[in-house]
Amino acid sequence: MDRAALSNLLDGRTVLRDASASGNLKVMAALLGPAFRGLIARRGREATIAMPLRHDARFDWEYTRRFPELGRLYEVAKSAQWNAASDLDWSRPVDPTDPAHPLLPDSFLPVVTLPIWRRLSERERNVQRHAMAGWLLSQFLHGEQAALFAASQVTQAVPWYEGKLFGGTQVVDEARHVEAFSTYLTRKLERLYRIDDNLFVIVDALMSGSDWDLKFLGMQILIEGLALGAFGTIRARTGDALLKELLTYVIDDEARHVWYGVLALKRHYVDEHQTTPEREDWAFEIVLLLRNRFFAHEFYDEFYGHAMTRAQWDELVLASDLMAAFRDTMLKRIIPNLRRIGLLSPRVQARYEAIDALRYAGGKDAGQLTRQELLEDAAASPTPGPPARAAR
Ligand SMILES: [Fe+2]
Ligand SMILES: [Fe+2]
Repeated sequence: MDRAALSNLLDGRTVLRDASASGNLKVMAALLGPAFRGLIARRGREATIAMPLRHDARFDWEYTRRFPELGRLYEVAKSAQWNAASDLDWSRPVDPTDPAHPLLPDSFLPVVTLPIWRRLSERERNVQRHAMAGWLLSQFLHGEQAALFAASQVTQAVPWYEGKLFGGTQVVDEARHVEAFSTYLTRKLERLYRIDDNLFVIVDALMSGSDWDLKFLGMQILIEGLALGAFGTIRARTGDALLKELLTYVIDDEARHVWYGVLALKRHYVDEHQTTPEREDWAFEIVLLLRNRFFAHEFYDEFYGHAMTRAQWDELVLASDLMAAFRDTMLKRIIPNLRRIGLLSPRVQARYEAIDALRYAGGKDAGQLTRQELLEDAAASPTPGPPARAAR
């Protein structure tokens, strides 16, 4: 076992501790396999992997329309299509070392407050700025690949005809996002990092589960919510015009995807009463896993492995501006939606209170946020505007 796998074994204990926070053995057992494959076997390091799938594809030979809101969302999605190759101006130069147009604010580098950063030359700092932007956008790209696969699985598995039609547009959207991030990374940044081990655990857990609504909950509400928040955070703070434009297009698509998740699961959980305490526990566990698990260990190995232990690095990351911004924006985007789909009952509220997340419950859900609020990563305002889903 190499040093990283050994450190991951210790991380694995944290994952399992998080995963057992609800005391739900079924949820914990479902995360054991993904934690082993992601953290110990480190399967995310491999160039290509095959994941076995276990879900039912539902056919509907009657094509009965039973979900007009999803039908309307499908119409919006069809007319909102764009072309990543021709609608973005790829001729624009991107210079990750240009201080006038920084890709990310320096405060997103966990080391920026330490003497070790002050001792670096400007050239060395630029190398690290470039690398951190490459690492972060690589994780966005890997998340998009997972979304592409999850969207195609969900399209097969959902019971509603209109859901399958909308799902088809989401598959195309996610393919376009993979294309856009991949082009930006390879053509403009010339960097590509492998998937973060902890992100791999979450993706593996979602892909290999068999219940369609759990896949849906994990992907459409939780991962898409995280992505929407993270994209908004970076879009609002980046100084690079091409990245800002790319994220503007992607955020408009993601807003539809989250709204699809909320509409579908509200119907299933609240209106049709098809929920169980396990759903609430699962949602809480994934929120815990998402909240604190992106440590940029590849960046650490490259630049700081000689200077501090991984535990010291993790502490720095947890206290960094980057993590604080992501945690805040992710909870802001996810918690109101959990309330709307009925997964924030009094039974689990104390748990969210304990991680300081319940204060987001009164914020705007996906149907109330305006496009501008999503793009500017703004705090929820008390006046609802037109829904973001219909924006483009
Ligand atoms: Fe996407
Ligand atoms: Fe999406």
